[in-house]
Amino acid sequence: MKITVVGTGYVGLVTGVTLAEIGHYVNCVDIDNNKIDMLKRGLSPIYEKDMDYYLKKNKDRLNFTTDYSVYNDCEILFIGVGTPENEDGSANLSYVKRVCEDIVKYGSKDLIVVIKSTVPIGTNDEIDSYFKSTGLRSKIYVVSNPEFLSQGTAINDVFNSKRIIIGSNDDYAIQKMKKLYEPFIESGIPFLVMDRKSSEMVKYASNSFLATKISFINEISNLCEVLGADVNSVALGMGYDDRIGNKFLKPGIGYGGSCFPKDTKALVDLANKNNYNLEIVSSTISVNEKQKRKCFDILKGLINDLNNKDIAILGVTFKPGTDDLRDSPSLKNIDLLLDESANVRVYDPVGLENLKKMYGDTIKYFNSISETIKNCEAVLIMTEWDEIKYYNYSCYKKLMSNPIVIDGRNCYNKKEMKDNGIDYYCIGG
Ligand code: UDX
Repeated sequence: MKITVVGTGYVGLVTGVTLAEIGHYVNCVDIDNNKIDMLKRGLSPIYEKDMDYYLKKNKDRLNFTTDYSVYNDCEILFIGVGTPENEDGSANLSYVKRVCEDIVKYGSKDLIVVIKSTVPIGTNDEIDSYFKSTGLRSKIYVVSNPEFLSQGTAINDVFNSKRIIIGSNDDYAIQKMKKLYEPFIESGIPFLVMDRKSSEMVKYASNSFLATKISFINEISNLCEVLGADVNSVALGMGYDDRIGNKFLKPGIGYGGSCFPKDTKALVDLANKNNYNLEIVSSTISVNEKQKRKCFDILKGLINDLNNKDIAILGVTFKPGTDDLRDSPSLKNIDLLLDESANVRVYDPVGLENLKKMYGDTIKYFNSISETIKNCEAVLIMTEWDEIKYYNYSCYKKLMSNPIVIDGRNCYNKKEMKDNGIDYYCIGG
């Protein structure tokens, strides 16, 4: 089939590349000339595992352009542009709306418009009404098809999706979507059809549930600390019950990234606007906000005066495998340290370029863990990159006169660290 995907960020580009891989011809459109130039040269504008490989492999089925006239040159058009957070927590739909207006301007044939971007419940219906209100002669079928990919494993997540969710009540559109995803369906991925609002809700409810699991285990970890239990053992014991499952039970310094923080807030905002108080998700958000400053608070309890003290931050991305810093807990800790006039020294294997754009010369950047921690008063571990997890921990002792390591991701064995003379703090006992 001939497909157009609008937006070449995580959602759009991964959608385009994976559809090309299953044999479709895909126009990828973006308003950003730089991104399109890079893609035309075979370079990925996002840091994502296997992206370069699939871009190269499918180059004959992928076309990158800033030209909207391709909206006429396809049977199905995916909208995969961003829906960032507004100041009040609601989702900013201006990019999605702009694409819809351009479809009206440039499209003249019947078209299935698939909303992949995460949009508040009811948006697909509103878009449908918008198209109908324009008096277009061609027919536009609006279909909701949320994505569930995780950054760092996004391409693999699509090929091994747990489900494909289709929100539509139009049989023609449903059959077309089935045809589009045939190779995935044949490989055993469940294809679930429902109304558009429910489809939109699946995405928000799934992300909010996963975020809640994380906040839940983080609260339990705080109680474990008070009571002298070990949260890692507790999570292990809970995870063997397959009604609970062992995923997303890893305690830490809270969730970050482009989805959980924004989607939980957008759901609460949507509930408020409809006079419903979404208590559990609201608590998930507030527990997460507190958890983000956990390492800083431990440090403050140990060294009250941080003025001019050298403090190392290891890992800045919101999780390993990505260069994304959006809502990363590390940023909160850097800000708190700067407020206390500490000298912040930072290492991350891939996130430093993005960090420099935010902090300039207010902090110091290093290319290795050893350089970063040298003579520091304390180390805060914010991301569980392999190079941090497998760092020879005896170096903390060698390179710091009084080694304090506050590990927000439970990278090391507490007993081994203590036995090696390191003043070690982790999450949950
Ligand atoms: C998430 C969802 O997993 C994905 O399905 C959705 O489409 C987009 O949002 P992503 O944001 O890429 O994906 O990352 P994910 O791996 O889910 O991690 C999110 C955050 O939660 C990270 O900051 C991570 O460190 C944290 N996390 C995750 C925990 O603190 N504990 C866990 O057990 C799991």
